[in-house]
Amino acid sequence: MEVQLTAPNGKTWTQPLGLFINNEFVPSSNGQKITTINPTTEEEICSVYAATAEDVDKAVAAARKAFKDPSWRKLSGTERGALLNKLADLIEQHQELIATIETLDNGKPYSAALNEDLADVISVFRYYAGFADKNFGQVIDAGPDKFAYTVKEPIGVCGQIIPWNYPMDMAAWKLGPALCCGNTVVLKLAEQTPLSMLYTAQLIKEAGFPPGVVNIINGHGREAGAALVQHPDVDKIAFTGSTATGKEVMKMAAGTMKNVTLETGGKSPLIIFDDADLDLAVKWSHIGIMSNQGQICTATSRILVHEKIYDQFLTKFKAQVQSISVLGDPFEPSTFQGPQVTKAQYERVLSYIRSGQEEGATIALGGEPAPQKGKGFFVAPTVFTNVKPHMKIFREEIFGPCVAVVAFSTEEEAIQLANDTTYGLGSAIFTRDLVRAHRVAREIEAGMVWINSSNDSDFRIPFGGVKQSGIGRELGEPALASYCNIKAIHVNMAT
Ligand code: NAI
Ligand code: MG
Repeated sequence: MEVQLTAPNGKTWTQPLGLFINNEFVPSSNGQKITTINPTTEEEICSVYAATAEDVDKAVAAARKAFKDPSWRKLSGTERGALLNKLADLIEQHQELIATIETLDNGKPYSAALNEDLADVISVFRYYAGFADKNFGQVIDAGPDKFAYTVKEPIGVCGQIIPWNYPMDMAAWKLGPALCCGNTVVLKLAEQTPLSMLYTAQLIKEAGFPPGVVNIINGHGREAGAALVQHPDVDKIAFTGSTATGKEVMKMAAGTMKNVTLETGGKSPLIIFDDADLDLAVKWSHIGIMSNQGQICTATSRILVHEKIYDQFLTKFKAQVQSISVLGDPFEPSTFQGPQVTKAQYERVLSYIRSGQEEGATIALGGEPAPQKGKGFFVAPTVFTNVKPHMKIFREEIFGPCVAVVAFSTEEEAIQLANDTTYGLGSAIFTRDLVRAHRVAREIEAGMVWINSSNDSDFRIPFGGVKQSGIGRELGEPALASYCNIKAIHVNMAT
């Protein structure tokens, strides 16, 4: 059920391999496993048990039992907050090791895993710990004959399905508000990156959460994921991943009319007006698409630049990519970009690059595999010019270090291009004109607008999309609404 692992940075640990159900690690019912790969070396790390539908049943039963059990149900918000704070403290104590596991399994630079992902995870748990006793109902004045009030109740057993790009953060964004509100959870990890959260499962037990409150399973999407979404005893599904899978999830959840929140794909625009601080725009344009190997749902993957400053921007942007996007061993402090997470993603990104070429776009930079010492799923950071709105590289989520740069001439045209997408997740605007910034922000069809930055998301600020980028919000106070039912209680005061 466990294996000893050592990472290139010398850290050694005992890696759990089981399904975490009722605060214990157990094998899958038929013994099936999934092998997880180190994308930097293409070598196997270990094989992790993968849940069958029968295992999903067991996990859901554990979550249901825990939901009814007084050891969880009768806790006050204050007590739930204390558990979440304890968990945050434990993760903080183990953060270097968890970041190491993440870098090994996912390929993201260790510095980012530690200073960005783990820092966010700890903040998210503390944030929702604070909310646990400050999330209550209202008294509603309906005249002297009626006393009415509302109570916020947990939804019940929540199925949570997360992707591989931010394994720890995606788990925290879902567990934090769910536990804050008193729900119980079955969390299905992405089969490509199960190791960091399986390690963290032990800390959930150590923090004192009763058995069954948090169950964590690795498994295939079509098997364990689908079983969870269709399970009649699951009350809610929260999903992050591709838009195509999100639509499947919504259909399957309709069977028992589950409460659903979805956070799916994006093709987010970044608009640079001719009065922008160009160096600032260059800096954030790079961060907005090249961070995390381009594997970010809110990545600003379409850069729209005013024609007057287009050439100047392109020259500076290419220089920025060349100087900052250092590829290499993700454990090296100088590395900015590691490998894509899997061979499948690497090939998918390369096929988009070919499609861009075939459709007539120009590769201004990159556009090819970039193995390091002959190994790894590395893709050179790629900049496309001469991109037309009908091209796939303008329309579809590539989820890699690839960006399309397009010129515009008027504000209307910029807005039209920005909104010419089925997605509506992130967006960014660069201008020094305050009035224009706010005017354009209102016109953009997106859940989030960054003015003079990109992708500097924050746990206190709601995150989510419109159009085919999702339903509902994570993070901030609005996430609580995704994990509570409101019960209205009417008291007749008339005689
Ligand atoms: P995916 O959406 O298929 O997988 C995400 C999660 O859903 C995983 O845990 C997976 O096991 C689960 N899943 C898959 N099929 C399922 C099903 N039928 N029922 C229930 N759960 C299911 O994404 P995948 O295949 O890993 O990546 C493909 C593309 O999706 C990427 O290239 C990218 O464009 C997009 N993507 C977007 C993400 C985002 O944050 N918006 C995250 C990951 C992928
Ligand atoms: Mg892996």
